Amino acid sequence: GPEIFGARKNSMGLDLTYDPHLDQIEAARGTDASTYFTGAPLIAGTPKGGPVVTVQNPSTHTPIGQITWASAEDVDTALTAAKPWDASPSERAKVLNRAADLYEENLGLFFALLSREAGKIWLDCMGELREAVDFLRYYASRMDDHTRPPVGLFTCISPWNFPLAIFTGQIAGALAVGNGVLAKPAEQTGLIAFEAVKLLHQAGVPRDVLQLLPGDGVTVGAALTSDPRIGGVAFTGSTETAQIIRRAMAANMAPSAPLIAETGGLNAMIVDSTALPEQAVRDIVASSFQSAGQRCSALRCLYVQEDVADAMTNMLVGAMNELKQDDPWHLHTDLGPVIDDEAFQGIKTYVDNARAKGRIAHELTAPEGGFFIAPTLIRVNGIEDMKREIFGPVLHIATFKAHELDDVIDAINATGYGLTFGLHTRIDDRVQHVCDRMHVGNAYVNRNQIGAIVGSQPFGGEGLSGTGPKAGGPMYMDRFCQPASAERH
Ligand code: SER
Repeated sequence: GPEIFGARKNSMGLDLTYDPHLDQIEAARGTDASTYFTGAPLIAGTPKGGPVVTVQNPSTHTPIGQITWASAEDVDTALTAAKPWDASPSERAKVLNRAADLYEENLGLFFALLSREAGKIWLDCMGELREAVDFLRYYASRMDDHTRPPVGLFTCISPWNFPLAIFTGQIAGALAVGNGVLAKPAEQTGLIAFEAVKLLHQAGVPRDVLQLLPGDGVTVGAALTSDPRIGGVAFTGSTETAQIIRRAMAANMAPSAPLIAETGGLNAMIVDSTALPEQAVRDIVASSFQSAGQRCSALRCLYVQEDVADAMTNMLVGAMNELKQDDPWHLHTDLGPVIDDEAFQGIKTYVDNARAKGRIAHELTAPEGGFFIAPTLIRVNGIEDMKREIFGPVLHIATFKAHELDDVIDAINATGYGLTFGLHTRIDDRVQHVCDRMHVGNAYVNRNQIGAIVGSQPFGGEGLSGTGPKAGGPMYMDRFCQPASAERH
């Protein structure tokens, strides 16, 4: 009926003028001293449990909880118990909408966990919670469009940088059309996943339809992507891991088994001499340094037209100097830490090398005591100097001459990646010219290039950046269904 499939609004998120929201945040602040503990993996059947792993706050290195990983036996128990969701579409929609309500009611819990387990600032906690809720309601609202049968069982493997939103989006897409789901959260962010799955179960998703298997890539990830009982895989993470998953699926599953992969990027922005400098600088800073640069959509390589490069760089340096890096729990913080020691060491080594080569245009000083990487600006000749994605608050800057615009487009396309792209210009024809030639999933003009909105900006890349279909868009749920040729008439 229309009460289920009808008009849908995106979540409003946190309202700081609304007392109940503030109360929830204040209450969550009080949990600072407490620790979280998850028992056995949330599977149907009797879990044995694997290693118990301590979770650290990336801002302080202090333990915030422990999580019990799944054992190899647990993975098999879960696969044996797993079932597609045989509820009617309207019942599934009701349950997903109920889950969205429960997520919103647990705002304080999620803020506390997103901040302490994933190092997120308030703005990012809010964006993440809203996106998770939007995915649930959006896929619930589109269920009447999808009458094909589900593939059966789906493996969902999600990343630590959106431990609630992407985790929930994959699961909601798979569940909406009636699949059973085996979910493996990122190793760094299992506590958030655990709380989310408890709420999904509470909303009415049966325990054998949604099972959570925290653990490492070998025990859980490899098993869940190479088992013939699995009908398809949704994965967000590195391009290399997506290639490994595709090989494992090809060797073990039906040839038609879908892989929905969202992977890396080397995202660029072009700023020409007609751009409004204040607006461009604001959008550059948000695109590269918000979320400490830990978004697959984040800006990595900025091209500024030579004529305005000095003035623009000076303004950018000024704006960088205003950034406040601190514990993400404080409202004043603009960016927090990177996720863990491995990320910290890798980025630090990269910046040290750039410094040794005299390529640092500007860098701030990081606070002590956590995995803080200071916002850094590195000079490059062009995007071809960047061999890989640096997943942190590190922006590269290059210049171009007016007649080199098409060469810049070619160089960006030549990376093979194609996730996001930003353009700042006030020449209408140029918008069309550049966007027509750029091979990317999401192109943004005269704004920042992060934070795609569910339902209005379906998100996903092409080339090395992903398989499509785009998350939060009208085609997404299709790929979780049996191929059209399998449809019975
Ligand atoms: N959906 C996220 C964004 O648009 C992915 O990183 O920023």
